[in-house]
Amino acid sequence: MAIILDGKALSARIRTGLKEQLELQMAKGQPQPFLTTMQVGDDLPSTVYIRAKQRASEELGIGFRHHKLAADISMDELRGQVSEINHNQSVHGLLVQSPLPQHLDEVAVQRMVAPEKDVDCFHPENVGLLYIGRPRFQPCTAAGVIEMLLNYGFDPSGKRVVVLGRSVIVGRPLSLMLMLKARGGDATVTVCHSRTHDLPSITRQADILVPAVGQAEMVRGDWVKEGVVVVDVGINRVPDPSAERGYRLVGDVAFDEVEPRAAAIAPVPGGVGPMTVAILMSNVMRAAGYNISH
Ligand SMILES: NC(=O)c1ccc[n+]([C@@H]2O[C@H](COP(=O)([O-])OP(=O)(O)OC[C@H]3O[C@@H](n4cnc5c(N)ncnc54)[C@H](OP(=O)(O)O)[C@@H]3O)[C@@H](O)[C@H]2O)c1
Repeated sequence: MAIILDGKALSARIRTGLKEQLELQMAKGQPQPFLTTMQVGDDLPSTVYIRAKQRASEELGIGFRHHKLAADISMDELRGQVSEINHNQSVHGLLVQSPLPQHLDEVAVQRMVAPEKDVDCFHPENVGLLYIGRPRFQPCTAAGVIEMLLNYGFDPSGKRVVVLGRSVIVGRPLSLMLMLKARGGDATVTVCHSRTHDLPSITRQADILVPAVGQAEMVRGDWVKEGVVVVDVGINRVPDPSAERGYRLVGDVAFDEVEPRAAAIAPVPGGVGPMTVAILMSNVMRAAGYNISH
């Protein structure tokens, strides 16, 4: 039986630690950290993610405000809104939820956010700092994966790690962080994507496998070696008439096939998702000048 990497419980533990640090440092005169989120349009998963961020902020005692903007907002109008938050000294973190409507240039929007408030770590300046091994903020999902591995005693150092996916949000920062000469790094990293030939022959070599492709249950039982550690980042909706909402969430891994071969595995839901939120909270506190340990 594999160890279940319980992201929900671990995230709760990290957030409790953050809350203690927040109370301690606020008592010494630090300002209350404040997060502002922006959402353009009505994308339903985005609304769910923002609610989770709001809940986590409020639980910790981080100030929170959400701005919902019209789906047809122009680039100039959005720039105005972002600029206002950039100049608001009582807001420490600003996050513009993706995806954005087609008419908005996502990369240009990421560049509008003041780098010192960019708690998602998407601004090119922050990506550059990460690249040279001097991160200002942790990319939330990637850092969530690494914290999960470290907390369960699966240090990637010296291990062969296979990352499936090379997106700017998950696969790329994760593979970079895993190879950095730093805590949670020092791994030998292989990155696969949609052009990779014969994926199973590569995934079978992994000591640690991190699928982040958005393909429901793509990784099958015979894709992994005995004793592998699997951190499934994928979140996919599959139709399920027996479920209240008509669908259920599954990862990129066929859990029932892979779990018996694995030493440890993160489930979906309840794995990496909650970890992402915990790291975001620590980034907001960092942005407000807090020293964080977790
Ligand atoms: N748990 C969390 O907090 C969290 C956070 C973010 C995302 N996610 C989930 O993680 C998954 C990935 O998200 P993302 O934003 O990185 O997605 P994305 O931008 O669509 O990127 C997917 C990556 O997977 C690769 N890929 C797609 N199909 C493949 C296949 N059949 N074989 C091999 N590689 C394949 C793509 O290759 P190409 O580059 O060649 O196109 C791309 O690099 C999604 O399910 C998303 O919902 C979870």
